[in-house]
Amino acid sequence: MNVQTNIPLSTLTTMKIGGNANYVVDVTTREELRQAYQNAKKLGQQVYIIGSGSNTIAHDEGFNGVIVHNKIPGIKAIVDDHESTTLQAGGGEIWDDLVKYSVDLNLSGIEAMSGIPGTVGAAPVQNIGAYGQELANTFISLDAYDTQTDAFVTLSWEDCSFSYRHSIFRGNAQGRYAITTITLKLYKKLPEPPFYESLQKRFDELHITAFTPQTIRENVLAIRADKLPDPTKWPNAGSFFKNAIVESWQVESIRQSNSDVLAFDQGNGKFKIPAGWLIEASDLKGEVLHGMKVHDKNAVVLINESATSYADLAAAREQIITTVRDNFQIVLEQEPLELDQPVS
Ligand code: EPU
Repeated sequence: MNVQTNIPLSTLTTMKIGGNANYVVDVTTREELRQAYQNAKKLGQQVYIIGSGSNTIAHDEGFNGVIVHNKIPGIKAIVDDHESTTLQAGGGEIWDDLVKYSVDLNLSGIEAMSGIPGTVGAAPVQNIGAYGQELANTFISLDAYDTQTDAFVTLSWEDCSFSYRHSIFRGNAQGRYAITTITLKLYKKLPEPPFYESLQKRFDELHITAFTPQTIRENVLAIRADKLPDPTKWPNAGSFFKNAIVESWQVESIRQSNSDVLAFDQGNGKFKIPAGWLIEASDLKGEVLHGMKVHDKNAVVLINESATSYADLAAAREQIITTVRDNFQIVLEQEPLELDQPVS
């Protein structure tokens, strides 16, 4: 177990903002993880568990506690039958390594989530999703350390209460569980159309008609490379806002002034309006606000161009939320988590 003191959170998060954390503890086994939590408790320190920091926003004050850096490794097949393979992966694995592993086995279920930054342990927290797939679709269960009862537990799909970019881990149970492994059931059947609109468009343009997990992966990676800035070169946290889920009357009201409004029927009477569209239609695309750039290829992404503080980020966020609200009466919600409300 590697313990470091006074580490800048700007070095642990891809947005590259944030003051110091008292301690950062790397854990590579379940027992080390448990030890780290118990030691923190003895020292009266709060704990926040982090993967690769690609969906976490840290504060200027830093973190008065222990950051547990989940590095628990391992990817293996635990069940295999004629139609599916069940994979289990350690929370510290890089998510895209798991996707690649599954694609190399010709398995389908997470290939469209190729290239999402972050770790396996972070994936259930926000129920990651992209290009028509989301984690909840293949998720069977996860193992976690329950910081309240000091026991290892298994949580089922039902226990996690997944919804759009949400789960109990960022709701009622925030801070309670440290995810050690996840279990996914993937399929041997080839992926079939219809695919996510932008992916299908690319297949049509390239005349691709044979769909395998590998072709999906390659083409998703190509689309992402074009639209999503590489966080190792351009500090960012992926989509900075959630897409807005609204009522049909709201769509109609926007259509009065913006006939080109994008709205996707959710099948439950509600519609999804992409946050990127709302921001672009508010003329903010490409703008630099307080050192944060609204990405010129995808307005839902904020790139930290020259912001040095959380205060800069908060001012940029406020300006975007207010402008979109004034234009469309929709209040955008932030997608990445904030490292300010640890529970345990
Ligand atoms: N759009 C605009 N202007 C923009 C950006 C997008 O008009 O500046 C339009 C696009 O043309 C498209 C629609 O909005 O018609 C949706 O855009 P896109 O397909 O790029 O997806 P998104 O809704 O912006 C979501 C996820 C992404 C994921 C993509 C692809 C959220 C908050 N974001 O973005 O996830 O990669 O779908 O499936 O749900 C992330 O969570 O960090 C992330 C990048």
